[in-house]
Amino acid sequence: MTKLTLFLVLLIFWPFLAVSEFPAGASELSRGDPERGREIYDKYCMECHGETGRGDGPRAALLAPRPGNLVSAATSTKSDAELLGIITNGAPRTAMRGWKDELTEEDRLNVLAFIRSLVRFQKPSLTPPPPE
Ligand code: HEC
Repeated sequence: MTKLTLFLVLLIFWPFLAVSEFPAGASELSRGDPERGREIYDKYCMECHGETGRGDGPRAALLAPRPGNLVSAATSTKSDAELLGIITNGAPRTAMRGWKDELTEEDRLNVLAFIRSLVRFQKPSLTPPPPE
């Protein structure tokens, strides 16, 4: 193989080599589709968690404990695995049940991607944080 052919072969396969540099499964969430997730959320989750995820859906007031705010820091700082676990198996002693029978793993990832997207596109609050 001449140097030129070697160069050309490398050139052609470079994108594939580059892609394989990412560790496999680094972000499971990147497999989720937030648009598909929105449909699932509207159908199954919104009645409790509310349109924008703030826990103010029509059923929320009747529940104890109330559904939490999914765009809060408390939820946002939880890992994908942790939230997927709750979506899959439910949260004990709350109205949040597991969805593994209704939703495929892919759809659970999609709905999680949608929840994450709610956080990313929040408008910044107009009131400044209280002084320390
Ligand atoms: C019957 C009302 C209800 C429905 C329907 C519901 N949830 Fe929940 N959810 C709750 C309650 C109550 C909690 C427990 C309080 C909390 O942690 O927010 C909860 C907790 C969660 C949490 C954990 C939040 C955290 O920080 O630990 C996630 C994630 C979540 N729900 C996602 C969903 C998704 C996705 C759906 C739809 C597939 C859904 N919920 C449907 C009531 C509901």
